[in-house]
Amino acid sequence: MSGIPHDHYEPKTNGEKWLNSRLPIVGLLYDTLMIPTPKNLNWMWIWGIVLTFCLALQIVTGIVLVMHYTPHVDLAFASIEHIMRNVNGGYMLRYIHMNGASLFFVAVYIHIFRGLFYGSYKAPREITWIIGMLIYLMMMGTAFMGYVLPWGQMSFWGATVITGLFGAIPFVGEAIQTWLLGGPAVDNATLNRFFSLHYLLPFVIAALVIVHIWAFHTTGNNNPTGVEVRRTSKADAEKDTLPFWPYFVIKDLFALAVILVVFWAIVGYMPNYLGHPDNYIEANPLVTPAHIVPEWYFLPFYAILRAFTGEVWVVQFVSFITGGIVDAKFFGVIAMFGAILAMALAPWLDTSTVRSGKYRPMFKWWFYLLIIDFFALMWLGAMPAEEPYATFSLIASAYWFAYFFVILPILGVIEKPLPQPETIEEDFNAHYGKADADATPAE
Ligand code: HEM
Repeated sequence: MSGIPHDHYEPKTNGEKWLNSRLPIVGLLYDTLMIPTPKNLNWMWIWGIVLTFCLALQIVTGIVLVMHYTPHVDLAFASIEHIMRNVNGGYMLRYIHMNGASLFFVAVYIHIFRGLFYGSYKAPREITWIIGMLIYLMMMGTAFMGYVLPWGQMSFWGATVITGLFGAIPFVGEAIQTWLLGGPAVDNATLNRFFSLHYLLPFVIAALVIVHIWAFHTTGNNNPTGVEVRRTSKADAEKDTLPFWPYFVIKDLFALAVILVVFWAIVGYMPNYLGHPDNYIEANPLVTPAHIVPEWYFLPFYAILRAFTGEVWVVQFVSFITGGIVDAKFFGVIAMFGAILAMALAPWLDTSTVRSGKYRPMFKWWFYLLIIDFFALMWLGAMPAEEPYATFSLIASAYWFAYFFVILPILGVIEKPLPQPETIEEDFNAHYGKADADATPAE
């Protein structure tokens, strides 16, 4: 597949030519910034920039936090208090980093659901999607390990519960768990390695983001119609697109500014709203908190993990045919990772030839239900593991899997799509009027 035809960087002065023949970095930056971008992109396409901003924000605030933090079980909690009380602007730095993680996840969930609605995962963008999924997994790992660093009660017990899941893997589970923890229980070795990895992973994510951007610059962006940019000639491509700079840069920065106003209000006025008060109590291996609840962004998948108890017939059946190797605990772990794998497989599970959900009358409703399901799971993940929540969790988890493994494959076959515009230009003109000189002004 050929790229979208457009102007490329041409070195003019002797100095530019000298550099370009040795390191064509200006050309690379020029082509990246001037990339032809579908001109009908809506506000759902701003989240990539918000995500990039969040990554940079987390790295910068994180690096300064580390200058005052001590990764040792005897000192970690006190060093966080020191940051909050003694370091100039330390409390603000910490609150930005804490809430920055939440903004990061708000953005990533909207970004993912945007992709799921507009079919951005479909050919030829599968690699962009898979890299995105890898980034998401790494974000989860990074956030989980970061939460352990303040060494509060939730840090300690969250780490104990989640690393305990690996112990559920048959035969090798216990060995893996000990290897992860660096000992038989969460302790100083655990804190140290989590600190090391928490510092490292954001840079791995940054590298993956570059590959992510490279991948969708190769295929071109998707857009709300799901109709591709014309590649028949440069003139045709120019009718469907606008250069990324300045049009989309300004739009994205405007959106980012609005989002940051809200973010700043949260950091300033309610910085602990999304946190758990127990994490202001120092970790104590002898006192288990009444409810161990993960951060809000893990709750949907935590609900799926807990939904499959030994009382569920599917679990009993699988346990029976595997001779007890897959017990309820291991089944839950498989379900949790399976729920993420299901999303990753969307490009191959969705059989529809139509990309955008806008032109899929049946798909739309199932998709809206998936969003409700996601919020329901988030709520259920924070509820105690008892009735009626247990049954609700099971139903909500079942829908998550049904959406990807049953509904998406079937819909593509039985659904009759609505007519789509022929070109992006046609869609753009239908929304904003024809931009050329002889267009009739709006009455
Ligand atoms: C650090 C995390 C991430 C960053 C910085 C990032 C960045 C971006 C940017 C800048 C874009 C283009 C503009 C836009 O659509 O907003 C984009 C597109 C895309 N992203 Fe991400 N992304 C991240 C995570 C993810 C994740 C977790 C997924 C889901 C698996 C994903 C899937 C996609 C897809 C399919 C596109 C193509 C959409 C299109 O071409 O219009 N991304 N990403």
